[in-house]
Amino acid sequence: MITTSEKVTAEDTLIRLIHKLEQTQSLSREEWTQLIRGRTPKATEYLFERAREIRIRHYGHDVYIRGLIEFTNYCKNDCYYCGIRKSNSNAQRYRLSKEDILSCCEQGYALGFRTFVLQGGEDKWFTDERLADIVASIRSGWKDCAITLSVGERSADSYQRLFDAGANRFLLRHETYDHEHYSRLHPDTLTAAHRQECLWNLKKIGYQVGTGFMVGSPYQTPELLADDMLFLKELDPQMVGIGPFIPHHDTPFAKEPAGTADLTLYMLGLIRLMLPKVLLPATTALGTIAPGGREKGILAGANVVMPNLSPASVREKYLLYDNKLCTGSEAAESLADLRRRMESIGYQVTVSRGDSLNM
Ligand code: 5AD
Repeated sequence: MITTSEKVTAEDTLIRLIHKLEQTQSLSREEWTQLIRGRTPKATEYLFERAREIRIRHYGHDVYIRGLIEFTNYCKNDCYYCGIRKSNSNAQRYRLSKEDILSCCEQGYALGFRTFVLQGGEDKWFTDERLADIVASIRSGWKDCAITLSVGERSADSYQRLFDAGANRFLLRHETYDHEHYSRLHPDTLTAAHRQECLWNLKKIGYQVGTGFMVGSPYQTPELLADDMLFLKELDPQMVGIGPFIPHHDTPFAKEPAGTADLTLYMLGLIRLMLPKVLLPATTALGTIAPGGREKGILAGANVVMPNLSPASVREKYLLYDNKLCTGSEAAESLADLRRRMESIGYQVTVSRGDSLNM
């Protein structure tokens, strides 16, 4: 007979799984599923405490900043969730010139940024030659800075050329690991297999790699999130970017519900426990979906924020989802505001490249 004191509650099971995750940095698919599906406020509090401690152990109270330069919103892809998909004829397309990009870097450097992230749609105008030329110019102009590319799927040769030109890091979210789920979020021209192959190629070349996924994307289940965690474990990236799915009014997913801040924060905590030294941004999408979202992200184990360095005139055009923040402390020129916000929760923005310790 089971007495009350012996009865293992669902809450105890969650705490036990979180403890096991912290001790071993690994769980089975079933355990991940249970941990994600069973989420409770009490387990969440415990998780965040553990995540903060681990984060502080490795990175102290430092928050690394990255200057995000959204240099083109032309895209040849047609992802069902994304506001800059090629079929969105309402999107006002733009492309920054090399001079524009270099001037973003100059302003960013003066503000204290030591990482520049060049992010864009998959825009054929930016051939290897053009992009490598831009990377090489940034490399020679700002030798102490890291250059991060986030330009989607390209050939291994292309990734190599850009690396040789001076790029150090590459962000490419896997979006979702499961092949069938991937095919429900993307047209047939895009596959999970190719996406993942790109990530392995980037790693082989020597990039510091960032991957990640949307939380609460249509058709996502706890089992699928479990698969995402297992994939992260296998890839062992230097950086993991996650944010809630947020519908965009001009996409096939316009009427789908958004992901929640709560589940995103919970996943951030879990990622911190599984990959203790990983770089973990509190993303713009998280800041968009919830007031104080980025601060909450930091308190759940995140250690990076990526303010927008793009020229103000194009910021509103890089609209991946509705209401995307690009002003206030999302904007690079409001760094003072961001600093204050981080200080208000006991953390400090630092001027440094902020390389990953997960090498
Ligand atoms: N909601 C949230 N995130 C989105 N992204 C694209 N569209 C959306 C959306 N509607 C994310 C994708 C992509 C990154 C640049 O932005 O995960 O990899």
